[in-house]
Amino acid sequence: MEIFLDTANIDDISEILKWGIIKGVTTNQKIFLKEKGCNFEQQAKKILKIVEPLPVSLEGPNNLDELLDSAHEYNKWGKNVVIKVPMLPDGDGLKAVKILSSEGIKTNVTAMMNLNQAFLAVMAGATYASLFFNRIRDSGDDPVQITKQVKEAIDEGGYKTKIIVGSIRSPDDVAEIITTNAHVVTIPYKILKQMPYHKSTVSTLEEFDKAWEEFKQAEKHK
Ligand code: E4P
Repeated sequence: MEIFLDTANIDDISEILKWGIIKGVTTNQKIFLKEKGCNFEQQAKKILKIVEPLPVSLEGPNNLDELLDSAHEYNKWGKNVVIKVPMLPDGDGLKAVKILSSEGIKTNVTAMMNLNQAFLAVMAGATYASLFFNRIRDSGDDPVQITKQVKEAIDEGGYKTKIIVGSIRSPDDVAEIITTNAHVVTIPYKILKQMPYHKSTVSTLEEFDKAWEEFKQAEKHK
């Protein structure tokens, strides 16, 4: 499983890149809204550059023609662009995936809540299919079971699409997703920053530190 960072903040990305654990970045309109007053094109280009060659997902609008225009424009901004295509209820998102993939443009079909939607994205040739973990749970379904079913269908059919699991609200969600064997989990900065912490690790390290001080004192008095 790989970790992507779910953010459009340059400082967050630069900091986490130094941990050496992320393999890509995902964004959406709500994530960009948090970057108050930034220019979308400039910010996206900066992200693409600092993250290169790792993939960066940029989301297009919810209308086929505008989505294709945006995709063609974003695709000029870097070699690592992935177009986030909404799973539109009339199937237009699938049409977009078909067109973009025939042009060699990578896609990430987003906002998916069930096996059927994910399977359609796979059939259309999506590079990535994004399941929204907590939004699935909010709508009353079991996101762990759905993620496992999608992964199983991909593995059994030998399809190339990779599942991204997003909509993460706590470190415990990440632990649950690791058990599903999904290809990617995309984690917000705030959640990722909590993950190295465990209170028993901290108290263990304090205990070892204290022992080391005692050892050094005893060593001095030999
Ligand atoms: C994933 O690609 C999305 O950007 C994101 O995880 C959606 O999360 P939300 O449900 O917190 O909006």
